[in-house]
Amino acid sequence: MPLIAKEQIATSIAQAASDIDRQYKDKDLVIVMVLKGAICFTADLIRAMTIPCDLQTVQCSSYGKGGTKRGELNIFGIEALEIENRDVLVVDDIFDSGHTLFSLIETLNKKNPSSLKSLVLLTRNASEMSDFHPDRSLFSIEDEFVIGYGLDYKEKYRGLPSIYALEQV
Ligand code: IMP
Ligand code: MG
Repeated sequence: MPLIAKEQIATSIAQAASDIDRQYKDKDLVIVMVLKGAICFTADLIRAMTIPCDLQTVQCSSYGKGGTKRGELNIFGIEALEIENRDVLVVDDIFDSGHTLFSLIETLNKKNPSSLKSLVLLTRNASEMSDFHPDRSLFSIEDEFVIGYGLDYKEKYRGLPSIYALEQV
């Protein structure tokens, strides 16, 4: 049984997309997709939107092949971003400890965007950060490690259409 079924994801994305349509109408919207976990979310989001956007990417990794334990955070692709004086929306898969998004937002801010907001698919309730939150999160989850819809365990299971809790054996 999925934790969050693909139909629920689609409904929630449709709402977010129509809000983005309204919010960024007549703006120069750049979506910065955080690879690799946000791939399914972003692909569905931009297809549910009706306004145009420039899709750019960064790659953040803190888990690597280690599985479910966090390691050192690396951010790649910052130099290539063209976001100065533009309206930026960062799209990520999950706000967990919050370190990835916090560091990324800090780094992107140095490139002087006109505006900078964040949208995540999932927030883990046990997040360590109390004073920094994404601007919008579509679902909250408890402490379980999740896979599917872009999220991996050791680089596998990203292609599952729904989100599942990983059964640890
Ligand atoms: P944070 O820096 O702790 O917020 O970690 C965020 C990143 O860790 C996410 O973008 C994911 O790539 C990864 N991550 C955190 N929790 C999970 C999970 O339950 N499943 C898969 N990846 C996860
Ligand atoms: Mg990620």
